[in-house]
Amino acid sequence: MIKLGVNIDHVATLRQARLAIEPNLIRAAVLSEMYGADGITIHLREDRRHIQDNDLIIIRKAITKKLNLELATENNDVLALALDIVPDMATLVPETREEVTTEGGLNVENKTVRLKTENAIEKLKNKGVTISLFVDPKPEVMKIAKELGAEYIEIHTGAYSEAKNCKIRKVELQKIIEAVKSARAMGLNVNAGHGLNYDNVTEIAAIKEIEELNIGHSIVARSVFVGLPAAVKEMKELMINARKNILL
Ligand code: PXP
Repeated sequence: MIKLGVNIDHVATLRQARLAIEPNLIRAAVLSEMYGADGITIHLREDRRHIQDNDLIIIRKAITKKLNLELATENNDVLALALDIVPDMATLVPETREEVTTEGGLNVENKTVRLKTENAIEKLKNKGVTISLFVDPKPEVMKIAKELGAEYIEIHTGAYSEAKNCKIRKVELQKIIEAVKSARAMGLNVNAGHGLNYDNVTEIAAIKEIEELNIGHSIVARSVFVGLPAAVKEMKELMINARKNILL
């Protein structure tokens, strides 16, 4: 069955807007788990714009399902914290201070990025953390991901999600399908995410080799109107129905 990783960064964004204690992040994580999340994803950014160090420590203890920590390999303090709390999965992402959100996949074709990634992977793997690399939907990066020691890749679905028309969306979907095939051929497990919402998730969830989707913004945004339990439940149902339809 396809899995849903709920990214709760933007619950923390709202809290940090007032430097307050509400909305409570643990409550968001636990409710997400209760209503269909198979795991919780958080991104501890260098600028700490949403998730704080203490959140990571508390969430690690509070949740019962998988903790997927997104982190950039450039940030030594974040890596040190990751090695300390030992998430179930670490998804290595690129990060720049100016970006509003993660703009692209890891540029593992670049030698410096590759060396830093390799170093982080080695340390995390020694602690028993499962490694996922956030990459663009390019078949050629899958071989590098495998060589670096990743067990999973997460395909960046941003270009698909932001496509301006159906024609572009179709092209982007095809790129994702090809990238999934290539990753599976290398023996990599495949997750995907970024920009997925209630209108565009079905086509991605229908790709049967994808194990998990990581979704944040659209779920937290919808929860403003319907509440987090309903928002999580509805997303999970869309994903499961997408899978059922291809099995029929
Ligand atoms: N996957 C990764 C690696 C991300 O960096 C993000 C954004 O934090 C997501 C998934 C979730 O993206 P969105 O918030 O657009 O659903």
